Amino acid sequence: MAKLTLHSNSIVLRGRMIRIAKKDDLEGIMAIFKSWPKSYDYESAQSYYKNFFDGKHDADVVFVLEKEGEIVGTAGYCLEQSEGVKGIYWLNWLYTSQHHKCKGYASTLLDFVIEQLKKKNARKLFVNTSSHKFYKNAIRLYVKFGFEEEGCLEKFYSESEHQIIFGLDFKMIQKIPFDSSLSA
Ligand SMILES: CC(C)(COP(=O)(O)OP(=O)(O)OC[C@H]1O[C@@H](n2cnc3c(N)ncnc32)[C@H](O)[C@@H]1OP(=O)(O)O)[C@@H](O)C(=O)NCCC(=O)NCCS
Repeated sequence: MAKLTLHSNSIVLRGRMIRIAKKDDLEGIMAIFKSWPKSYDYESAQSYYKNFFDGKHDADVVFVLEKEGEIVGTAGYCLEQSEGVKGIYWLNWLYTSQHHKCKGYASTLLDFVIEQLKKKNARKLFVNTSSHKFYKNAIRLYVKFGFEEEGCLEKFYSESEHQIIFGLDFKMIQKIPFDSSLSA
């Protein structure tokens, strides 16, 4: 797993703790995916996190957000590995438990990821999502954070479901306020 420069590997803010995920968190992370009625991403997420905790995605970083000891959200990122491409990152699996939605947890996680990537001189952060209505709240969140739609791969997931790629240009986000008490 990639090394991250965080003092004591965790940050606490108003009872929320964001920390790097560890192997023991697999069940707690999967409970987030299970909390959604149709468990849309459950199987692909399970496969991803099993591989991640087995060390198969060693360039990826995964965080969990805990509230009173319960994992209620997760987010991660990875560096784009294409030859000659620098400062490009992908946001991975931003997910909040349905039982804890609309409490600002995804925003806190995304703020945190963006701050980490600023320190790494990121130029852009991309995220891929879907045209399915399940992801409409995520898209609202990305747009609120300044992401813009940059591409659409039509019929990617099925005849009626496209992949949509959003991008955040770090040159454009200097003005977004960040709660400095989250900084490590
Ligand atoms: C999308 C998701 C991550 C938002 O998590 P959350 O912790 O509820 O988000 P927050 O409380 O930080 O809300 C931040 C913003 O997200 C959007 N949003 C989140 N839930 C929303 C809802 N039910 N209705 C409308 N907008 C919503 C809004 O823009 C909101 O800002 P606002 O409160 O100022 O309107 C969460 O609903 C989720 O995990 N959904 C399923 C998984 C998913 O789609 N992940 C992204 C994969 S690409």
